[in-house]
Amino acid sequence: MKPQRVHIAIQKNGRLAEQSLGLIRAAGFHLTKSASDLAYSVENAPIDLWCVRDDDIPTFVADGVADLGIVGRNVLAERALGANAPIPAEIMPLGFGRCRLAIAAPESLTYAGPGSLSGLRIATTYPNLLARFLAAEGVEAEIVTMRGAVEVAPRLKLAEAICDLVSTGATLEANGLIELQTVLESEAVLVRGTRTLDEASERTVQSVVARFRGVIASQGAKYVMMNAPRAALPEISRILPGAGAPTVTPLAGRDDAVAVHAVCQESVFWETLEALKAAGASSILVLSIEKMM
Ligand code: PRP
Ligand code: ZN
Repeated sequence: MKPQRVHIAIQKNGRLAEQSLGLIRAAGFHLTKSASDLAYSVENAPIDLWCVRDDDIPTFVADGVADLGIVGRNVLAERALGANAPIPAEIMPLGFGRCRLAIAAPESLTYAGPGSLSGLRIATTYPNLLARFLAAEGVEAEIVTMRGAVEVAPRLKLAEAICDLVSTGATLEANGLIELQTVLESEAVLVRGTRTLDEASERTVQSVVARFRGVIASQGAKYVMMNAPRAALPEISRILPGAGAPTVTPLAGRDDAVAVHAVCQESVFWETLEALKAAGASSILVLSIEKMM
């Protein structure tokens, strides 16, 4: 029997495409591009990547065409509100592709909260998320559903406001629009479908998920080492940012001093090092972490 291959759907081009490939490479998978540009195969694991339109990813994963998908929460949430078909479950946020779905309008619109949108036409490619937001705010407005290029709607007099993704804000600025209200915070997330896999493929999926977790956990994390007086340990633990219990080992020939090693999940600033020094630490080293599991 031919062994199953695990399929991961990623965005073909657009805001998540490059970083999705980056995450997969950082997880140690070596990619070979197919002739068509629409797929990659992983050389060192039974995995294929399919590059598709982001809007298609929830459906592909829900239908079992793909076993995992990397997609914006915005796309997933919009689909979840619309379809009565099942939608894939979000396994974990991936920490890139951060953006927000927001309402924006020309400067001429006076905004004093969602109530100001009452009676207006709002153009969007996210009609379900916008409808949910308006309903939750008790605002009645007309939703103008578009397929793209929403930012031009006010200029074309198709709408008085828009509801669209904002990341840097450059698109809004270029179109003379002011961001007024966040509707949804989004970032890339990993989703998984419900297809039952054979044992080997299930192990592959588990390993992909564990490696992604490891890559994300190690981003920004630092390994901090120092020597310190034993008596300073409580103070030093307090100063170390986002560290669990540190590893404490004796120093040869010294009863009063120890070596302290800790993984810090948050940024370690110069101020942190100065505080550690003031607490009595010496020979402080801060190292990048390459892998973590
Ligand atoms: C979004 C949105 C804007 C732009 C905003 O489109 O529709 O055009 O990004 O980004 P900025 O604030 O950095 O200028 P996207 O590229 O995600 O394409 P899509 O919504 O058509 O998939
Ligand atoms: Zn899209």
